[in-house]
Amino acid sequence: MKILILEDAAAAAERAAEIIAAQVTAKPGSVLGLATGGTMEAVYERLIALHRAGSASFAGASSFNLDEYVGLAGDHPCSYRRYMAEKLFDQIDIAPGAAHLPMGEAADPEAEAARYEAAIVAAGDIDLQLLGLGLNGHIGFNEPTSSLTSITRLKTLERSTREANSRYFPDGDEPPRLAITMGIGTIMRAREVLLVATGAAKARAVAQVIEGPVSARWPGSVLQMHRHATLVLDRAAASELELIDYYLDVHPE
Ligand code: F6R
Repeated sequence: MKILILEDAAAAAERAAEIIAAQVTAKPGSVLGLATGGTMEAVYERLIALHRAGSASFAGASSFNLDEYVGLAGDHPCSYRRYMAEKLFDQIDIAPGAAHLPMGEAADPEAEAARYEAAIVAAGDIDLQLLGLGLNGHIGFNEPTSSLTSITRLKTLERSTREANSRYFPDGDEPPRLAITMGIGTIMRAREVLLVATGAAKARAVAQVIEGPVSARWPGSVLQMHRHATLVLDRAAASELELIDYYLDVHPE
């Protein structure tokens, strides 16, 4: 794992955006794996700025998002499709139809999960998968005890995940209990993964993922088994790492 510790969340977002921009520049037909959530908002802001500056084009790229809530139509204000449209897709040059998310409103969500997995395989799998990290160590919506070889399927969200995400739901509405999520095996097939975690609240999960045992208890720890995983952290998220001096020594920038 390549562990990059940046001074603050803004610097971490900038670095992550630069890595994504470098990917689509080196391979314009890249298949990107994308994430939602608070951490990604800053990353997408920086990516849009790079696009506007002429440093990143997505015209030849395609994308697959990690997850979507079951029961929310794509035009629902709290759906991840809407999040992605507002925070990224409508502000860059990705082709209409090239940006994929699971369909949360599908009549048969299990069949939709299978269709989505097959679409990722048919696209040749993902070149660069962007990941956030849950407080409980989840990647995508692969909650603790998810099979480390799972593929796209339905998952029941943990209470801590639903509480953390309730800020996106107005008027005390709760996030749905179920989501369609890429599996850990799906994520691990990506040729490169880029995890971004910022803020002190993530410090425990970050320490478990990087320095704990590989375990379904902390799903992100599976990235220890990936050949090309980059973890971009800020100082606060890195604060519980035992070997922090080593990581800073290897990548002082
Ligand atoms: C969302 C997703 C989740 C988030 C994670 C962190 O598509 O895949 O794994 O990345 O829950 O969310 P934030 O950044 O809001 O703390």
